[in-house]
Amino acid sequence: MRYVSLKDAKPGMQLAYSLYDTYGRTLVGGNIRLTAGYIEKLEEYGFDGVYIVDALSEGVEVEPVISPETRNSGMECVRRCDIDGCREIAKIMVSELLQKGSVSLDLMDLRSYDDYTYAHSVNVAAICGVIGMGMYLSEKALTDLVLSALLHDLGKISIPAEILKKPERLTPEEYQVMKTHSTRSYELISERWDISAKVKTAVLSHHENVDGSGYPRGLEGKKHTQFTRILHVADVYDALTSKRPYKNPYSPREASEYLMGGCGTLFDKETVEHLLTYVPLYPKGMKIKLNDGRSGIVYENAGEHNLRPLIRLFSGDMLDLNYKENLNVVIAPPEWQGEVSQEELERQREQMIQPVSGMGGCVHG
Ligand SMILES: [Fe+2]
Repeated sequence: MRYVSLKDAKPGMQLAYSLYDTYGRTLVGGNIRLTAGYIEKLEEYGFDGVYIVDALSEGVEVEPVISPETRNSGMECVRRCDIDGCREIAKIMVSELLQKGSVSLDLMDLRSYDDYTYAHSVNVAAICGVIGMGMYLSEKALTDLVLSALLHDLGKISIPAEILKKPERLTPEEYQVMKTHSTRSYELISERWDISAKVKTAVLSHHENVDGSGYPRGLEGKKHTQFTRILHVADVYDALTSKRPYKNPYSPREASEYLMGGCGTLFDKETVEHLLTYVPLYPKGMKIKLNDGRSGIVYENAGEHNLRPLIRLFSGDMLDLNYKENLNVVIAPPEWQGEVSQEELERQREQMIQPVSGMGGCVHG
């Protein structure tokens, strides 16, 4: 299977995965062939792309880190603000992750706009689980970490909809209201005896930055707990790679660069390094172009470095970028591929270097 952005999707292409709406209802079943009507509808829902099955991508298997059933149940619990339900889902997610053993965040995100907060919480939970596994946390600690991710944005439930759902960037006043969401999330769980202090602290502090520029308390990095550091990095990575009404998703490579650039000021360096171990910069099934003009799709990320995947060329030949004879071959960045104009790249760069504000009008969820 391979990933195709909706603008490249054509009627007749066969879907690899079902697509769900915000209530977990199937919008389009897996194995169905796309029609012009489906493509239009998916664009309206705000999907960015789909996975398809074709001869070119035969043998490329891209698996989600958690099952669609668990993802949908998790979204439903977050939507209902069902804290007990979230505790159960955290246990299920951790057991699914542990059963898989090694995981890689290969599957590009498939979700629509309107379920952002719910899908985001479940995604952040999965990313936290992956980082935590890489740090060899115990099952109990992993479950607490995943739970803190499921609960971290629950406080948005009491943020006025005109701010929460505003399709443009927030005004400074609106942003001040949005910034109260982490304290509101904390207040929803602070009296619960059955939720650990580690979870409560991470929920309260998930927007704290290493240099003390975050909120609500402006705590410096040495005062952040391990859960806080992990939740913060996972939260921002997912916000960057998701499509919002006011921004296109960053590719894993762009989001990785952003996290690297923020090490020591916004993010804890060690935590970012752990995440980057599991984020293939060029995920399996992604279409790429090489500097010598050849094109293909990423077949496997089995090499030592996730910059140098195994590629199936459109000619059908395989090309391993880890081989010595291929040292001079590199994956061309989008600006070499002629797919993005210089003006658009400059606009995106300007957007990336804007001061960190907050979720709702900014990439930081
Ligand atoms: Fe948040």
